[in-house]
Formats: sequence, structure tokens, C-alpha cells
Amino acid sequence: MSEEAVIDCADETVSVDPRTDAKPTSAVRIAPVDLGPVHVETPVVLSPMAGVTNWPFRVLCEEYGPDGLYVAEMITARALVARNPKALRLCRFAPGERIRSLQLYGVNPGIVEQAARIVVDEDMADHVDLNFGCPVPKVTRRGGGSALPWKTDLFREIIQRVVRVCDEANIPVTAKIRVGIDHDHETFHEAGHIAQEEGCKAVTLHARTTAEYYGGHSDWSRIGELVSELDIPVFGNGDIWGADDALAMVEQTGCAGVAIGRGCQGRPWLFADIKHAFAGSGERTNPTLGEVGRIIVRHAQLLTEFYDGDERMAVHDLRKHVAWYLKGFPVGGATRRAFMECESLADVEREVAQLDQDAPYPERVVDKPRGRVRFQKKVHLPYGWLDSRTTTHEEREALFGDDPMDASY
Ligand SMILES: Cc1cc2nc3c(=O)[nH]c(=O)nc-3n(C[C@H](O)[C@H](O)[C@H](O)COP(=O)(O)O)c2cc1C
Repeated sequence: MSEEAVIDCADETVSVDPRTDAKPTSAVRIAPVDLGPVHVETPVVLSPMAGVTNWPFRVLCEEYGPDGLYVAEMITARALVARNPKALRLCRFAPGERIRSLQLYGVNPGIVEQAARIVVDEDMADHVDLNFGCPVPKVTRRGGGSALPWKTDLFREIIQRVVRVCDEANIPVTAKIRVGIDHDHETFHEAGHIAQEEGCKAVTLHARTTAEYYGGHSDWSRIGELVSELDIPVFGNGDIWGADDALAMVEQTGCAGVAIGRGCQGRPWLFADIKHAFAGSGERTNPTLGEVGRIIVRHAQLLTEFYDGDERMAVHDLRKHVAWYLKGFPVGGATRRAFMECESLADVEREVAQLDQDAPYPERVVDKPRGRVRFQKKVHLPYGWLDSRTTTHEEREALFGDDPMDASY
């Protein structure tokens, strides 16, 4: 299977925002969610983000908004089975993390099952999420991520095997999905039902197609559809940029909880805002640049621990976060460049000390889109992928021989 199918997405670039700008009008009712034995008091999820949601960032988010679910970035099942050191590092949790939540990604049911077996036998997590939402070409061209639910047999088998293994240890399994590959090839209805039938304790729907990638708008009406079809909790995902968006999503869709990705990049305090909003409070956190600077230093310190004392790796990892933290603040290009050239904690502390401590949080970036917002030009799929909803023997042979070790976003 060296060839691949490519869907041209030109006609996916027109997208209508199904939501209104109206703020939620009534008090939104949100209840704790139980995923089997895992109790999520405030059903707000830090959505897994590769390269972002390692434990230092999760700890910062959890400190602002305790009682939610903070999911680690996806771990490639094959890399975990091979005991790849990078994958093992991503499986680590900080001692204070209340719920150890891991996400696995894979195409080969046997390998994903082996990875789940490692998680169970080595007591690595309290919750396992399965990634069926990744739109990245490197992943979908191998039938993985958001391409996978199209093949209902494969989708079902992966969930079945992982649930069977995790059930032994009473570890709840959830699935994260998109609407489909494009609007002519939607998958979320069947995927939601299959996940429920096979014992998933919840489903998260990012209401975009693979073709939409991160462009346009997450179509929350699709979240509402899934909520009305399933008995298990549905977490709504996509385009929550501020606490009012979280309230609006719950109000408009009836979802059991919300999952936040890009909105908290450089804004871990968004979890505090959402917690307040769900409690009916209008309190919001808009830190000064001085306060943001202190978060940057703390983030750098935590990353240094994450990288076993390697400050250079820590501050390199920090770079993207610094760009997000400083977004919209009146910080000149020279200072931003200086942050990008930091090689040690002392360098970061020096740059932070020079920031204007009293600069207020910039109004124009409060609760506004951030991070990746583009459409994908093409959807890459294995050759003939869309011809049938089930996999042929040949397709399986070809797919499973070539599961990437590192399928990062
Ligand atoms: C940089 C980046 C990395 C991501 N990595 C993952 C991942 O590892 N697993 C996953 O299921 N989704 C991943 N996602 C998708 C997010 O979890 C989320 O579904 C998506 O960003 C939509 O939510 P948002 O609008 O709140 O950002 C990633 C998104 C971004 C921007």
C-alpha cells in the first residue's frame, strides 16, 4: 500500500459558525461525571495536546482548576511497547496529579492492546483515552487518528481489546473522535455508538472533520446530536476560548463536560475561570505581565524537573509556551527573541525580571482564538480507504507493518 488516497478539501473551506455570539442566558447546570471509579468533580478536561500537555503544564492547569481531568499528550502504542525513552517520559505523572490520565494512539489492535497491558500491569494510569481524532497527514495516511473510525471493524476491535485489558484493573477507557473525515464521510454517529457498546465510559467529540483540521468553527450542533443519541457522557470539544464559551457549549449542547485545547495555551488559569463560571461566579483571572512572568519561571522549573535537571531541554520546550504567554502583551521583538535564545533557567529568570511587571492583561487577546487555526489542504488516507467501511485482509497487512513509532502532531 505505497499509494495513498488524497481528498481535496477545497470545498471544506467554507464554514458557517453554528453558534451565536450571545452569552449564555441562564444558570448552566453541570454535574460531576463519573468515569467508572474515576470521579471528575468539575467536568472540565484539559484536552491532550502533543508537545504541550506533559506533566509540568498539567500541574499548572490543575493548580488553577482543581477537580478536572488533565490528559497527557498521546503516546504512540508502538513506542510504549518498544519502551522508547521519550514515550516513557511522556507517561510520567507528578505526585500531586489527582487522576493519572493517559492517551494511547495506534492502528494495530494487537499493539494497542499490548500498550494497554503495560499501562495496567505497571499501574501507569487511572484513566485511558484512545485517540481517534488526530488529523495530521502523517497519522491519517496510515489509517490512524481521525481516519480510523471510518473502518468500523478496526475501530471496534481496538476499543474492545483495550477495554478488556483495562477492565481487569477497573481503569475506565474513553474515546476521542472527530465528526468524520469530511462531510461526505462522517463517522461520529457510528463511532459514538460503537464506543458505548464496547464499554467506553465517555466520548469526547471535537466537532470538526479531518478536512477542517483546525480551521473554521467546531460545529457544536453535532455535539448536541451525539448527546441526544448516547447514554454515556459526551464531552464537547472545539473552540472554547473563555469561560463564557464553556457555559455556552454546555447550554447549547447539553454535553456532560467540556474539553479545552488551544484556549489554555499560555493561559492555564482558564481552568480557574471555567470553574468559577460553572459555580455561577463572574470572577475571571486576567494576570498582569508580572504575574505571567512568575508563571513562566515556575513552568521552566517544572520542565527542568521533567527533563531530569536538563535546563537546556527545559527552556527549549518552554519556547512555544513563552510565545503563548506573551501573546498580546506590549513586549518588543528583542525581548521575545531573547526568550527564544535562553539556554538556562537563569536566562529565563533574567528575561522575566526585565518585563514590565504592571502591564495589564491585554484585552484584545482575552478569550480569543489562539494557536493553530488553519484548514488542511488535503486529507491523506491509505489508498482505497474510503471504498469500504471495513478493512480487508490486505489492508490490515499493509497498515500494521508500518505503524509509526512517533506519530506526533
Ligand atoms: C498542538 C496540538 C496538539 C494536539 N495533540 C493532540 C493529542 O495528542 N491527542 C488528541 O487527541 N488531540 C490532540 N490535539 C487536539 C486537541 O486535543 C483538541 O481536540 C483540539 O485542539 C480542539 O480543541 P480546541 O478548539 O479547544 O483547541 C492537539 C491539538 C493541538 C493544537
